[in-house]
Amino acid sequence: MTKKYASLKSIASYIPPKCIKNSDFEEILDTSDEWIQKRTGIQMRYFASPEQNSSDLGVEAAKLAIKRSNLKIEEIDLVIVATLSPDFLGMPSTACLLSTKLGIKNRPAFDISTACSGFIYLLALAKSFIESGTYENILIVGAEKISSILDFTDRSTSVLFGDGAGAAIISTTTQKEHSILDVHISSDGAYSDYLLTPRTLKGSHFLEENLIPQYLQMKGNETFKLAVKTLTNDVEEIMKKNNIDVNSIDFFIPHQANLRIISAVGEQLKFSPQQVVVTVHKYGNTSAASIPMAMNDIYEDGKLKNGDLMLLDAFGGGLTWGSALVHFNGN
Ligand code: UT7
Repeated sequence: MTKKYASLKSIASYIPPKCIKNSDFEEILDTSDEWIQKRTGIQMRYFASPEQNSSDLGVEAAKLAIKRSNLKIEEIDLVIVATLSPDFLGMPSTACLLSTKLGIKNRPAFDISTACSGFIYLLALAKSFIESGTYENILIVGAEKISSILDFTDRSTSVLFGDGAGAAIISTTTQKEHSILDVHISSDGAYSDYLLTPRTLKGSHFLEENLIPQYLQMKGNETFKLAVKTLTNDVEEIMKKNNIDVNSIDFFIPHQANLRIISAVGEQLKFSPQQVVVTVHKYGNTSAASIPMAMNDIYEDGKLKNGDLMLLDAFGGGLTWGSALVHFNGN
């Protein structure tokens, strides 16, 4: 029997309407455009409107990804969404809501919670489902309305994040040279307090006491150091395992959290500036949407061509991390 491989058939993103500049934070916080740009590289980010939830952002990206794949809605076998800012805490899943909004019926749909590494975990799942022969076409979506969980009195986190969504269609191919070559995912819960939305079910609504707020918290400096080390090691491992060197990579797409992290990792791995994709200056950190949004940017700029090899690399709350070697198999 011919071996089945998973391939990236299309990529798309959605950027919500409201552009927030660094100077907008100067009015509400003790911060400055100069500090934010110097320490993070971020110049602006986009926030969803009050009516939009993560599923609404994801739907827009998904519609475009499906259109670009030339598939019909009925041909989508499975929908998986990665988000740390779901429409509802608990149920229904954002994937179920998104599927219905797309008109997808009687198909499995579920969410995963792996924070900023979400898209890499989605690729790992989609690859396994396709290579096992379970499904032919899978819609994966990273969608985030992080503005809904930011504490706008905390200057050390609120200036860093943005909203957005990225979507991709992963389909079966028989050609290895057009496939997702490898995906590596990992985690370490020992560092769970580095990045946290601390709302737990420990409090009591009955007494309205001990309720813990859900705003995102981060040990920035500690996370920064671990991010640089983990992202670098992860890339070295996946390249060694697949016998691939830096020159064979067309685009290195790291998670977009901080320009200083991206530059440090890119330099240690000896990627040229032309290989390293940077979008953090315009979108901020969009967590699970960050990598597919960056991929979509090089696609829409006409840089990403069929057959190009991308190396993706992410790190986030959990802690979770992962990397992937992905050929582009779209047009
Ligand atoms: O997406 C998941 C992965 N996320 C990351 O990898 C993010 C990792 N962390 C970072 O990107 C950086 O650590 C931050 C951007 C969060 C912070 O940058 P830093 O250079 O590590 O600054 P710091 O936390 O060491 O703080 C330095 C100073 C502090 O003031 P003092 O204590 O020295 O007086 C902070 O209070 O900068 C202050 N500060 C700010 N000042 C102006 C922190 N945030 C701000 C701000 N504006 N927005």
